[in-house]
Amino acid sequence: MRGAKALAILIVVYGNRAYDDTFTELQDTLADAGFSCVAAVAAIAEHSIMRQFAAGRPDAQDEKELADFAKTVRSRIESGALSAHLSLPGNRPYREYSGVPMKPQAGNSCTGCGLCAKECPVQAINAANPSNTDTKSCISCMRCIAVCPQKARSVSKILLAAGSMKLKKACSNYKKNELFLS
Ligand SMILES: Cc1cc2nc3c(=O)[nH]c(=O)nc-3n(C[C@H](O)[C@H](O)[C@H](O)COP(=O)(O)O)c2cc1C
Ligand code: SF4
Ligand code: SF4
Repeated sequence: MRGAKALAILIVVYGNRAYDDTFTELQDTLADAGFSCVAAVAAIAEHSIMRQFAAGRPDAQDEKELADFAKTVRSRIESGALSAHLSLPGNRPYREYSGVPMKPQAGNSCTGCGLCAKECPVQAINAANPSNTDTKSCISCMRCIAVCPQKARSVSKILLAAGSMKLKKACSNYKKNELFLS
């Protein structure tokens, strides 16, 4: 990527727990590539693994807020009020990603249609044998569960219950979308 001083608006979507140091990491990456980071948005979406957290979000109120953010950023850019001095929450060095142990597997209702293998972003599913997930390359994005027409794919119920208990406190309170301007 070459930014050539193009203005960049950073968008971080997270599952109602925390965005940790994603802003600082993204800002450094974009600045290194020559972009001028002028605004940032943190937006809430339903947790893609433990879907009871932030269920149904973004909802109508979120959509309105995000549309208002876009209008604000646009008017600030048009009036020349934004600069590359954008101060964002986060730490340097960034918090290490420790991985997510949940890797979906196909159950008995799998018809072998191969859709999950086609849609997996990292080719972790063998199309000839979809019940075989390469757990090393799987990034636990849960896309294969979402697209399976038979609802045949799932993660370990025990791990899901343990993860839900661990995240309950951090994920249960209502969190707002946030807009940061330079
Ligand atoms: C591997 C993985 C790690 C995640 N880590 C976090 C996290 O640290 N904090 C958080 O609030 N949500 C986390 N989530 C939830 C997602 O960020 C959130 O639900 C997601 O952004 C939903 O929309 P998207 O799939 O379009 O990004 C994680 C999801 C996955 C699959
Ligand atoms: S999408 Fe579902 S039914 Fe189709 S191969 Fe994958 S697990 Fe099996
Ligand atoms: S969870 Fe994501 S990365 Fe893992 S197998 Fe499913 S689609 Fe691929």
